[in-house]
Amino acid sequence: MSDAMGREGFSAEQIARVDEIQALRARIQELRERVRAADYAYYVLDSPIISDAEYDDLMRAIQALEEAHPELREAESPTQRVAGEVAAGFAKVRHLTPMLSLANVRTPQELIAWRDRAQSILPEAVFRYVGEPKIDGLSMNLIYRRGALSVGATRGNGEVGENVTANIRTIRDIPHHLGVSDRAPLPTVVEVRGEVYMLRADFERLNNRLAEEAQAQGVTPRLFANARNAAAGSLRQKDPSVTAKRPLSFLAYQIGHIEGAAEPETHWQSLEWLQAWGFPISPLDTSLETLDEAQAFVDQLSKTRFEVPYDIDGSVLKINERWQQIELGAVARDPRWAIAYKFAPIEENTKLLDIVVSVGRTGALVPNARLAPVQIGGVTIANATLFNADEVARKDLRIGDTVVVQRHGDVIPGVVKALVELRDGSERAWTFPKECPVCHTPVVRNEEEKVTYCPNAQCPGRRLEGLQHFASRGAMDIQGLGEMIVLRLVEAGLVRDPSDFYRLTLDDLLSLPGFQERSATNLLNSIEASKQQPLSRLLFGLGIRYVGEKAAETLATGFGSMDALLSASEEQIAELPGIGPRIAQSVFQWAQDEENRALVERLRAAGLTLETKREEITEGALPLAGQTFLLTGSLERLTRGQAESAIEALGGKIASGVSKSLNHLIVGAAPGSKLAKAEKLGIPIHDEAWLVALLDAHNALPTERRRVR
Ligand code: IVH
Repeated sequence: MSDAMGREGFSAEQIARVDEIQALRARIQELRERVRAADYAYYVLDSPIISDAEYDDLMRAIQALEEAHPELREAESPTQRVAGEVAAGFAKVRHLTPMLSLANVRTPQELIAWRDRAQSILPEAVFRYVGEPKIDGLSMNLIYRRGALSVGATRGNGEVGENVTANIRTIRDIPHHLGVSDRAPLPTVVEVRGEVYMLRADFERLNNRLAEEAQAQGVTPRLFANARNAAAGSLRQKDPSVTAKRPLSFLAYQIGHIEGAAEPETHWQSLEWLQAWGFPISPLDTSLETLDEAQAFVDQLSKTRFEVPYDIDGSVLKINERWQQIELGAVARDPRWAIAYKFAPIEENTKLLDIVVSVGRTGALVPNARLAPVQIGGVTIANATLFNADEVARKDLRIGDTVVVQRHGDVIPGVVKALVELRDGSERAWTFPKECPVCHTPVVRNEEEKVTYCPNAQCPGRRLEGLQHFASRGAMDIQGLGEMIVLRLVEAGLVRDPSDFYRLTLDDLLSLPGFQERSATNLLNSIEASKQQPLSRLLFGLGIRYVGEKAAETLATGFGSMDALLSASEEQIAELPGIGPRIAQSVFQWAQDEENRALVERLRAAGLTLETKREEITEGALPLAGQTFLLTGSLERLTRGQAESAIEALGGKIASGVSKSLNHLIVGAAPGSKLAKAEKLGIPIHDEAWLVALLDAHNALPTERRRVR
C-alpha cells in the first residue's frame, strides 16, 4: 500500500486503522523472520541462536497476533506447519552406490548352504565373519562430503531414496561432521549406512505423550503400533521440528561409496572407522572365526533378543574380507557375502474364546480368533486373524480349544493349530455365518479365492471400514479422523463416501458429541491438508481390491493421472511392472463402475490431487541440485566468481535472469533492477550472510576472498 494512492475520502479513523494494520503486519513479519532464522540456525547450521523457551515465546506471540487478526494469517507462517504432518513427498536422491538388501536363512542347514555357495565361488578362500543384530528400523544412507553431513536419504528402491536431510540432522546419534582420528582416514566423500530406530522405552513414552496430547485436544489418539512404525512416521515429517521431538536413534553398520581414501580391507575395519568418525555401532557386533562360531552367535542372540533395548528381528552375518566380498558380488539385490538369519517365530498356548466375523472394506468376511490374552515376546496378544472359512475348517478349530499362537516379529499373530489332545468334550464346533453379520445380506462365496463376501456394496460395515481405511495413516493420513470419529460421522448420516469428508462444516462437527471448537477446527484443517496427498495415496485409500500401497504407487507413476488410469484398458494396466492380471482386472472393473467414476468427480470438485507430480531425481545427491540462484550487487565476503562456482559445486545452477522459476536471488550492495523484478515476482531474496551460511553448512565456503582481474 502506498500513500501516493491518496488518502482523500477516508475518515481519520479509517486511516488510523490502515496504519495500525501496517504496523501489525511489519511486526508479525519480523517475528516470523526470527523464527525462520532460529530454525535455520538450529537445523542447518547446527548452532542454535535462541533458547527453546525464547523460541516458544516467539511462536506464541505470532499465534496470538494471528488469532486476534485473522487477516494477517498466511500459508507461509511458521504456525501453519502442521505438527505431526507426514510429508507427501520428499525430493528424490540417487545413492552413490546402490543399497542392497539381504537374503534370509532360518536354519543351521540353510546357513551351511549359504557358506557352501560362497565357497564354491572361492574354493581356496578361508572365510571369517562378522555377526551383527538385525535392527528393525529404517535403513539410511548418509553422504559426507569433506567431512560434513551433506545428504541423508532413505533406502527407497535401493537406487533412489527420499531426501530427509533436514530430519536426519535432528538425530543426536548422527554427527554433523566426521570426527578426526588417527584410527581412520578422512575420505572426501563417503556413504555411511545404518539403521534409524527407536528404543522400546522411548517408543512407549512417545505413545503415552501422543495419547495425552490427543486427550488435551479432544481427538482420538493415533498411536504407533510398534517402534519401527514410530521411527518411520517420525522420520517422514514435513516439519523437522517434529522429528526433533521424537526420540530417534541410529546405529551404523556399513560403508557404501568411498572417495579420497582406500576402502577398508575388512568389514570389521569398516566398523572401527565408523566408530572413529563418531558413529555409534552396536556393542553386539562380534568378530567370528568360523561358521560354528557364527551359528553360536545367532543362537545366543535369539536367546537374549528381548534383553536388547530395541527390536531386532534376527542376526546379520557378513563375510569379513573386502576382497572376498568383491569377488562374491551379488545376485539381483542380495549380496552373496551377507545373510540375514531370521529368528524362529515365538509360540505360546492359549484358549480360543470365540470366533468373530468382521466385514472388510472390499466386502470380504474375515473370521478373527478372540483369544485369552497371552504374552508373546513382550506383546499381549488377544486377537489373531483366521484368514478365511477354509482355514478354520482345515485346522478344525473349535471354540474352547487350547491353541498354539505364533508371532513372527512384526507380522500379525496367527493360530498355528489346536491341541486336540487337550480337548475335554466341552468344545463347540464353529460354522461360517450364512449372512453378513452387519447388514444380513446372504453371503457369496468365491471358490477360487476361498473368500466369502458380503455382496452388498451399500453394507454399512463395508462402508465404515472403507472410510476408516481412507483416513488411515497409510492412505490419506487425516489426523484426528480416527475410527471412532468416522463411526460417529457415519451414524449421524454426515458421511456416506469419502467425498463427504470434504463437505463437512464446523457446524456439522459441533453437532456431534465430544467436539469442541478447537478439535473441530483441527479436524477440518487436516481434512483440508489431505487434499495435497499424492495420487498414489488416494488410489490406495479408495480401497480398490488388491491395490496395496505398492500397486497404488505403480499405478500413480505409471499413468501420471487419475484420468489416464480411468481411460486405460485392462491390458495397459497389466503392462505396468508388478501389476499382475488379477490387480489389472480389479482396477479396470473399478474404473468402469459408474458410481466409482461419480465419486472421482466429487473428489475432483473438492480439489484433491488427481495428478502425479513428476519428481526430479537429484543425481549424485548434491545438496543444491535442482535449485537456481542469481546474484545482484557487489558482495563483501566473496567474489562473484567464488560465489557462483561454490553454488555450482554444490549442484546449484546460476540463472541468466530473473524469471518466475528462479529459486533464490542473492542481493549485495547497490543491487540492480533484478531486485525490484524479483520482489514483484515474489522470489525469495537473501543477503550475502545467508549465502555464506549456506555454503559454510555444506563445507563449500572459499577460505579467502580473491579478486581476479
Ligand atoms: S547390511 C549388505 N546390517 O536389513 C548390505 N542391514 O534386509 C545390506 N538391517 O535394508 C544391509 N540391521 O534396513 C545390514 N546390521 C545390519 C542390519 C541391516 C538391519 C536392515 C537394513 C536393510 C535390511 C536388509
